[in-house]
Amino acid sequence: MPPGSPPFQILHLEDNEVDHELVLLALQRDGLAVQATWVDTRAAFTRALEAQPYDAVLADYNLPDCTALDALKLLKARQPSTPFIIVSGAIGETAAIALLHEGGSDYVLKDGLHRLRPALQRAIEASQNLIAREAADTKLRESQQRIAELARHLQTSIEAERTAIAREIHDEIGSVLTALKFDVSWISRHATDEAVVNRALDSLETIDQAIQSTQRIMVNLRPAVLDQGLVHAIEWLARSFEKRTGIKTVFHTTHEDISLPDEVQQVAYRTAQEALNNVFKHAHATEVTIDMTPDTGVLSLEIADNGKGLHDADLAKPKSFGIRGLHERAQTVGGWVDVSTSQQGTAVILSVPLMNLEYPSMQRPPA
Ligand SMILES: Nc1ncnc2c1ncn2[C@@H]1O[C@H](COP(=O)(O)OP(=O)(O)OP(=O)(O)O)[C@@H](O)[C@H]1O
Ligand SMILES: [Mg+2]
Repeated sequence: MPPGSPPFQILHLEDNEVDHELVLLALQRDGLAVQATWVDTRAAFTRALEAQPYDAVLADYNLPDCTALDALKLLKARQPSTPFIIVSGAIGETAAIALLHEGGSDYVLKDGLHRLRPALQRAIEASQNLIAREAADTKLRESQQRIAELARHLQTSIEAERTAIAREIHDEIGSVLTALKFDVSWISRHATDEAVVNRALDSLETIDQAIQSTQRIMVNLRPAVLDQGLVHAIEWLARSFEKRTGIKTVFHTTHEDISLPDEVQQVAYRTAQEALNNVFKHAHATEVTIDMTPDTGVLSLEIADNGKGLHDADLAKPKSFGIRGLHERAQTVGGWVDVSTSQQGTAVILSVPLMNLEYPSMQRPPA
């Protein structure tokens, strides 16, 4: 122990005062500073444990009103991480093993007290390490929980923000473009100068493009199609992906309609969206299959392509956030994402347990 450290607080359960003195002498002789509390009955032992914490407990094996095993149980119930060492005249191997099995730290024979100091020190250090490790584990768990809560909060805020922006684009820009289209259209019909008419018609085309762009942006920000349910939304996503990219996209589902909480729908939709974007950007695929099944109490959504596949190193790219984001999104609803790959292509699979969810409005498609 480092110089200047306070003495170890030891509780000694021993019915023979001379033996107690001998233990103290042995520790003193071996240079270990201890402050010892001596008790010789079960009641005094219990009171002492309830009064203050100890660095270690030493106990005789044979006591008039309790066994060492009783003492060990009393200790574990009150100070579970405090080490317990038997200091006894004689203890059989079976008894020693039984004690160690119940959580005792060590045993020292009364005629071998030179072993007491190293045994005591080792047991105290082991218990302090254990306490430190448990504290670190608790901190780690708490911080993981905070990160998970933060991720969930971020997802919710991002979706709320996207909805608000989509609404604003619709209300502010959308209505201005519609009014503009109305005015320019009026000009094109009433202008007499051909050059003005042509310029107005060009402007109408430009306005139409702007209207289409705002609609595309709004859909990306907040897919209104989700209001009609996840099955319709994924179907729509598959169709528009095929139209936009020319990559054949097939969607299979075992149910026509699934009633799921908003967050689960958002996570599933965004997963399909990112997986399809990746197919377009990276896979060089000619076909994608999307499978959605909520059959086994787990919503499973698989997006599989027949492209070039990927490597572990691709997933570790420092500036790629798509798949990393999918893992985090899935966790916010208690789910997870698997990415499997082979020479036949890549599959992204989202799984979300639905154990606590009711889905009364699930309908199978007509046979
Ligand atoms: N379907 C796929 N087929 C082949 N490679 C893929 C596929 N999906 C992802 N990858 C590889 O994995 C990498 C990581 O994908 P991820 O979606 O995380 O990032 P990203 O698409 O590169 O960027 P972003 O952050 O914009 O999504 C990609 O850069 C690509 O190399
Ligand atoms: Mg990506």
